[in-house]
Amino acid sequence: MAQLIGGLGTSHIPAIGGAIHKGLQQEPYWKTFFDGFGPVREWLGKVKPDVVVIFYNDHGLNFFLDKMPTFAVGAASEYSNADEGWGIPTLAPLRGEPDLSWEIINHLIDQEFDITTCQELLVDHACTLPLKLFWPEGECPVTVVPVCINTVQFPLPNARRVYALGRAVGEAIAGWDSDKKVAVVASGGLSHQLEGERAGFINKDFDLQFLQSLESNPQWATQFSIHELVAKAGTQGIELLAWLAMRAALTVGGSSGIRKVHSNYYLPISNTATGLLALEKF
Ligand code: DHB
Ligand code: FE
Repeated sequence: MAQLIGGLGTSHIPAIGGAIHKGLQQEPYWKTFFDGFGPVREWLGKVKPDVVVIFYNDHGLNFFLDKMPTFAVGAASEYSNADEGWGIPTLAPLRGEPDLSWEIINHLIDQEFDITTCQELLVDHACTLPLKLFWPEGECPVTVVPVCINTVQFPLPNARRVYALGRAVGEAIAGWDSDKKVAVVASGGLSHQLEGERAGFINKDFDLQFLQSLESNPQWATQFSIHELVAKAGTQGIELLAWLAMRAALTVGGSSGIRKVHSNYYLPISNTATGLLALEKF
């Protein structure tokens, strides 16, 4: 059976793509953010996952407001990136893992999740940047299964449901007949709001509580309604739902065997409070 080795979470901000492209990683503005990834890369170099299942949200590249699935799962052998209008370079396509995609899709449908199955899927900065941050050199060494969660247009799925989704994805990974090593990745958050009266809103106290809960009390955030979470984290900070799904996937087989490899919290990058977390499952 496949081995679920751990989970990773990181923020995704288009400006990160520009900084990588221009080689600004050691500039004062960027240094603390990029340096946070050193210990995570070291760990990844040791545990060497073959596949990552990435929980993320699309920002209008593949799904627009006219057709917005609550949950969508990629089932392609390749996922292309495309110009999103941020002026950042388009990255190489990601290699898929269709066999695991179908394992997840079949299990989710069986568990009564209404998902959209995508045999074609464009992936935006939320998919490409985490992989570039974790594996900056050369070609990306892992295949991917993208799991997209609507965090963009109401009605949004609540935290309890996203937690259940993550757990079901974890079950599917654990039941996959393969000798490959799988990691789960969360992309998005932490607190930020890009528009409206609260543009620029950041909530450090809440972010740190949320990060801590992922270690010690993974269901903590499920006590809040979706509107409460938007109030606490911001209209884009609600991307933190992806982190909840990632953490829930790791509870399969018992939640006690988690070790924190590394975490980082730094703000702001652009309008966002950035988080980084690596958890090893044993
Ligand atoms: C920013 C943050 C995001 O999560 C995103 O998707 C786009 C932009 C920002 O802070 O600039
Ligand atoms: Fe985003």
